[in-house]
Amino acid sequence: MARKIIIDTDPGIDDAMAILFAYKAKEIDVLGLTTTFGNVPVVKATENALILNAVAGVDVPVAQGVDKPLQTPPRPHPDFVHGKDGFGNINWPATQNKPLDISAAQFIVDTVRRYPGEVTLVALGPLGNLAKALELDPEVADLVDEVVLMGGAHIEYGNVSPVAEANIINDPHAADKVFTANWQVTMIGLDVTHQVLLDNKVLERIKQANPVDGDFLYQAAQHYINFYSEKFGVEGCYFHDASTIAYILEPGLFGVELGSVRVACEGVAIGQTIVAPASMSFPEPAWDNVPHTQVCMEVDDQALLALFETTLTQ
Ligand code: RIB
Ligand code: CA
Repeated sequence: MARKIIIDTDPGIDDAMAILFAYKAKEIDVLGLTTTFGNVPVVKATENALILNAVAGVDVPVAQGVDKPLQTPPRPHPDFVHGKDGFGNINWPATQNKPLDISAAQFIVDTVRRYPGEVTLVALGPLGNLAKALELDPEVADLVDEVVLMGGAHIEYGNVSPVAEANIINDPHAADKVFTANWQVTMIGLDVTHQVLLDNKVLERIKQANPVDGDFLYQAAQHYINFYSEKFGVEGCYFHDASTIAYILEPGLFGVELGSVRVACEGVAIGQTIVAPASMSFPEPAWDNVPHTQVCMEVDDQALLALFETTLTQ
């Protein structure tokens, strides 16, 4: 049976890679897209989610979510990474399609209640919608199969501050709620996503074999690739969000460590994901009774990229 997922997203170029990857995977059933502010304002994120449905030719429900962090002031949208339109300034035409009338959090609660124990939440942006779903119906934590999120950094440097990754610093209070709730969380952070570099050779082969998804992805990725090439001197772009879908399909591609995660919500370390390894204990109680997150630390990058390419070209 295909694995049921809801993708919570701020599309975003790597979000687009993740979503089109998931749509093509026979082993995954995408029940809905829920949108959040992040790479772009939430209204644009919703428009972009509907564009991705149009590109893929699917009619997956889209529910709009939070437009700002729970408590911290909103941070600027990173158009230097994703472009003003979120898709690398390609200005893809908007669709006439509309989102649902309910909020993202309500959609998550209703869907999880409809399929108790079966739904995995794949989170690719700041975590406000998941935090709101927990607020709306705290029992959903017990009814979700797994939360697989792209965000955070354990040992690796951050990409917004020396310790903070973008999705977490954009709403640290929401992230702390998600890491401390009573559900199974798998964290795919910069420790692994900085090990996977997608280049134009792969994108060109996808475009050749699957011009529909491939042309969109190739066009959108150019701005993103230029950003990473100029900033880090690498040939290609980091595969952040799309790694979550590879994890759903083949968790064995990743090496995980267990630990309790808390998020710094103020001060110079705001947005840091601080991992207390399961094998250690500390006098400071903030990590006590916090469920263990699976923190991904290793990845088979070549197998992961091959999985992306074969899924999108099959
Ligand atoms: O740090 C990478 C994350 O920030 C990704 O989700 C990307 O889309 C941006 O939102
Ligand atoms: Ca994202």
